[in-house]
Amino acid sequence: MTTPTGTRRRVLIGVGGGIAAYKVCSVIRHFTESGHDVRVVPTRAALEFVGKATYEALSGNPVSTTVFDDVDEVAHVRLGQGADLVVIAPATADLMARAAQGRADDLLTASLLTVRCPVLFVPAMHTEMWEHPATQANVATLRSHGSVVMTPASGRLTGTDSGRGRLPDPQEIALVGELLLDRPDALPYDLAGVRVLISAGGTREPLDPVRYLGNHSSGKQGFALARAAAQRGASVTVVAGSTADPGMPAGVDIVRIATAEQLAEEMTKRAADADVVIMAAAVADFRPISVADAKIKKGDAGPAPIELTTNPDILRGLVTARDEGRIPHETVIVGFAAETGDETGGVLDHGRAKLARKGCDLLVVNAVGDGKAFGTEDNTGWLLAANGDETALPFGSKTLMSSRILDEVRQLVPDGRGARPTD
Ligand code: CTP
Repeated sequence: MTTPTGTRRRVLIGVGGGIAAYKVCSVIRHFTESGHDVRVVPTRAALEFVGKATYEALSGNPVSTTVFDDVDEVAHVRLGQGADLVVIAPATADLMARAAQGRADDLLTASLLTVRCPVLFVPAMHTEMWEHPATQANVATLRSHGSVVMTPASGRLTGTDSGRGRLPDPQEIALVGELLLDRPDALPYDLAGVRVLISAGGTREPLDPVRYLGNHSSGKQGFALARAAAQRGASVTVVAGSTADPGMPAGVDIVRIATAEQLAEEMTKRAADADVVIMAAAVADFRPISVADAKIKKGDAGPAPIELTTNPDILRGLVTARDEGRIPHETVIVGFAAETGDETGGVLDHGRAKLARKGCDLLVVNAVGDGKAFGTEDNTGWLLAANGDETALPFGSKTLMSSRILDEVRQLVPDGRGARPTD
């Protein structure tokens, strides 16, 4: 069997002893259903929550916790050496402490010492445990070893508590894992301390209390950028319109809006406190000139024409605000262009003209139409820079594309903001 992208990879899933172990069954399922060869290595404590039989059935492979099973196969070395990706979920405080110290007192931690592939820790614990200096020091150590430690989600925890420390959605874990399989170096921790503001989704321009003018934007590209930026350490706020994507990126603040005017207000207000502003939203260029208080009736006279007026160009407005000093001049501003090409020029020609018109630092140009870009999982395009650089973005997941866009963004963020990969 092959994965949707055609490659069967070996994924080692290490399960720690936390209640969130039951959610990890969906992660295992995702990777097996994607066609990967999945090996599950629980800790002994993990088996208190979910039994070995479940892991064996879901992965289709035998499961052990100790180096003393299958000794002739030297499992603790073979499993780690053979893996293309390791996902540790839930990564408990104890498991991360042992991994940070390089302990090898069970099959999972012993395997971690032999891996050369990307390792993704997905923490889940109570807020106090997550915030404890010992845990934070262990997280920093694991990151300094090159591991990716996901930012936990906020929300309801076991018992009556709520706060940061919740396991991110299985779908979210799977997306980050797939990104690391596609591109092992996609998530360096190089945006720590950088404040990123992203608009996502489509705007809805009301006609009356029940109808609106909208567009097909799913919000997937904006969410993918938010996901990648948050996992690189940025503090991320997404201002989201209508979205079809149920997956909310972990560790990201979301502000909901409906119309282009509301989006303009939120983006303009928040841009002054951002280091990077990315306009990934599909903004309606026009809105009905008036909104009826009551539902518009069909009547006998047939449809009345809808009179439209122009919405503010938010991206252009942000660039003007920066030119006029209302937004710090070092703020990096990124736009998107959805183009089809026509008799006046191709997709790239329109992109170049739009970059000049908008005056932003980077413009991501996507070809749209015929099922491309809107609502799809994958994307392709070009990244055009104000300095004339043009980079082709190879076809791949929106999360993969986001990691490449953020590489370029990182180059533009001034020194002193975030840690450089070489720091
Ligand atoms: N955009 C914006 N405000 C608008 C329209 C678009 O900020 N009123 C932003 C989008 O979020 C995107 C970029 O501008 O980052 C380009 O959007 P696009 O719809 O491709 O371009 P338009 O400005 O609408 O130009 P045109 O319709 O002529 O292609």
